[in-house]
Amino acid sequence: MDSLAAIVLAAGKGTRMKSSLIKVLHPVAGLPMIAWPVAATRDAGSETIVLVIGHQANAVQGAFRGAADIRCAMQEEQLGTGHAVACALDALAGFRGTVLILCGDTPLLRSETLKTMLTYHQENRAAITVLTALMDDPYGYGRIVRNSSGGVSRIVEQKDADTGEQEIREINSGIYCMDSAFLFDNIKGIGNDNAQGEYYLTDLLAIAVRKGLTCLALQTADADEIMGVNDRVQLARAGRVLRGRINRDHMLNGVTIIDPDNTYIDHGVTIGADTVIHAGCRIGEATVIGSCCDIEQNVSITGCRIGDDCHIKASSVLEDSELGEDVAVGPMAHLRPGTILGNKVKIGNFVETKKIVMGYGSKASHLTYLGDAEIGRNVNIGCGTITCNYDGINKHRTVIGDDVFIGSDVQLVAPVSVGRNSLVAAGTTVTIDVPPDSLALSRVPQINKEGWRLKKKP
Ligand code: UD1
Ligand code: CA
Repeated sequence: MDSLAAIVLAAGKGTRMKSSLIKVLHPVAGLPMIAWPVAATRDAGSETIVLVIGHQANAVQGAFRGAADIRCAMQEEQLGTGHAVACALDALAGFRGTVLILCGDTPLLRSETLKTMLTYHQENRAAITVLTALMDDPYGYGRIVRNSSGGVSRIVEQKDADTGEQEIREINSGIYCMDSAFLFDNIKGIGNDNAQGEYYLTDLLAIAVRKGLTCLALQTADADEIMGVNDRVQLARAGRVLRGRINRDHMLNGVTIIDPDNTYIDHGVTIGADTVIHAGCRIGEATVIGSCCDIEQNVSITGCRIGDDCHIKASSVLEDSELGEDVAVGPMAHLRPGTILGNKVKIGNFVETKKIVMGYGSKASHLTYLGDAEIGRNVNIGCGTITCNYDGINKHRTVIGDDVFIGSDVQLVAPVSVGRNSLVAAGTTVTIDVPPDSLALSRVPQINKEGWRLKKKP
């Protein structure tokens, strides 16, 4: 195989998105749109990938910070796809081989398709190969004009096509393989004498044909794959297709997904075998879930590491948290960032946690807020317990030792600690440290006024 480089066009704003964010940075299935075709060219073997940027150039560049194979080329004014590619060529100076050219708004393109195209291009020693598709509604696309023997003669844009050409159903995907020498030698030969006054990259086909060079069109069976995203309707469609592929991979790896059409798993999530994901779940940001877990309906999990055999009950929200094995959470629990739960911990309904460590077997089963706390092993946190961690200016820590029993409706006014094996009685407001093996009790003594109700009633 020849050396391979890629040019990804992404200088345009994407006006039809009606967004303050440039089109190619809109997220789809957990990645900025442009990251999908970039990954496909990488998987197909590109050593260098040149992004042609213009609108929001810094933001696009920032999305690839640290990627050694990415170079950016600035296109100050968007004068057409031919001009955009010309702007990229300095970044490829000295390169010899095949250049893949595609657009940053084609997130559905798969590396397998690129590889098929590359093989076809290179085996036929073509100057240029274009990927095409048959469309029922080709409106808006460039059309592939073929000669009487079926060979490609040129591409005509919608706005330049005569009525006969508008009938052509074979369209230009905007994805090409080009021989680098042909590209370097002919890019300057493109003019802008057309309906849009733009430099059309597509004119390179006619140039190759005129020079008697091999010019090929490879038709793809899956027209969906080359879909360019122009508006939010197509964005949603692309998301659905990508999620479908992601879900399928998980299912083939042994994960049960009860309702794949209503399960939203982003790129980069790992899930162990025999885990069951129920309908309406959203899982993203490089979450790792172990095997044999049960994730009930409408759970949202982002940036978490979850061990084996965990049970996340319905409508819980888990963010940037770590769970050991055999942990139960929810229903309707909220684990906020920095929650670290040991094996066999139980977090029940309407419990909120933030920046806490909770040891083996500890439980907070109902209606509780635990923030900035270190909780030992086998601790029971009663219903309605609150760590009062914030004094209006600073956050303070609560430390609870192993085997502590916190009764219901306890406030722990931080900074405060409860020593191991102590018991805090229900209704207590803990304001001073509790030593180990003790009882802490702060309650207004109860008084009973006998007969009081009888005197009140007429
Ligand atoms: C282009 C093709 C058309 C093809 C279609 C497939 C040309 C002349 N036409 O048309 O045959 O059917 O793609 O989707 O190539 N861009 C730049 N700089 C520019 C112009 C465009 O970076 O100066 C980028 C855009 O950001 C976009 C891509 O190139 O990502 C395509 O540009 P666009 O103007 O949308 O081309 P189409 O009119 O769709
Ligand atoms: Ca256009």
